[in-house]
Amino acid sequence: MPKNLENKSLFQKNYQIFHGDCQRELRAFANQVDLIVTSPPYADARQRHYDSVAPHDYPDWFMSFHEVFWQALKPTGSLVLNMKDKIVNGVRRHYVWETIEKLSQLGWYCIDDYIWHKKTSMPGYWPTRLRDAWEYVFHLAKVKTPYINQEAVKVPVALSTQQRLLNFEKLKSHFVQSSTGSGFQRDLVNWRNKNKVLPTNVLYLSPENRNKGHPAVFPIALPQFFIQLLSKPNDLIVDPFAGSGTTGLAALTLKRRCVLIDNQLAYCQVAGQRINKFINFNSIF
Ligand SMILES: C[S@@+](CC[C@H](N)C(=O)[O-])C[C@H]1O[C@@H](n2cnc3c(N)ncnc32)[C@H](O)[C@@H]1O
Repeated sequence: MPKNLENKSLFQKNYQIFHGDCQRELRAFANQVDLIVTSPPYADARQRHYDSVAPHDYPDWFMSFHEVFWQALKPTGSLVLNMKDKIVNGVRRHYVWETIEKLSQLGWYCIDDYIWHKKTSMPGYWPTRLRDAWEYVFHLAKVKTPYINQEAVKVPVALSTQQRLLNFEKLKSHFVQSSTGSGFQRDLVNWRNKNKVLPTNVLYLSPENRNKGHPAVFPIALPQFFIQLLSKPNDLIVDPFAGSGTTGLAALTLKRRCVLIDNQLAYCQVAGQRINKFINFNSIF
């Protein structure tokens, strides 16, 4: 089996799947990648299924990918990391923060921290904690002003604001004071004729609950959000820890090209099957 599962170039089709270590496979894409979206293995997680690293070793382990990620990304590209800290001996161990701090020391700008709020979370009982319902998503970049298209993710203006704007002409003042008395005010003139506004940096998404042939599949809406926000059609999106290929599917649905890498052949095959199914289904229409 060749490393590139079908041995066709990105010019012959819009995606490639590589079976191998991303530290090696990604070297062929220096300065070609517009966006990396990925969920790396979490510390001490799913050891039955794939390689995993102890929490105290995690930041150093992750730094071993820094160079190849940095080289692969174009100057205005972005790196989006979905991660979660772990409970060790009853206490939350912040290895994720240590990892992000180390990346910052190596030159990455942390543009923003997003929260993925899981609309449904695992039920259970924990004596000192509640149900865990969120994960981090970090947006990192090589420059302070990476490519971003906020228009692509804007959401409709809230109904309450729309109502207020309907009465715009009757307002005595178009300045709206904060009712907390903080002194903040909004000038409604800026909102006139505005239909859409920026969403927040909290993403409300249900976790994947169907079996996709991989134990840690994230919902396709998560990579889709960041691909829309941080890339253009035909750009090259990479998931170096691709698992079942969700990022690849997200990229193809949004007319981007993608490269998927996983060091487990079985997961590369699952990714290939999911993508083929998507392509065959779409070729019917
Ligand atoms: C959390 S899973 C990603 C799941 C993926 N987001 C999805 O939706 O299916 C992480 C993946 O990284 C892969 N992996 C671990 N170390 C790797 C390495 N050095 N190079 C490439 N893949 C690796 C594992 O096999 C696993 O499938």
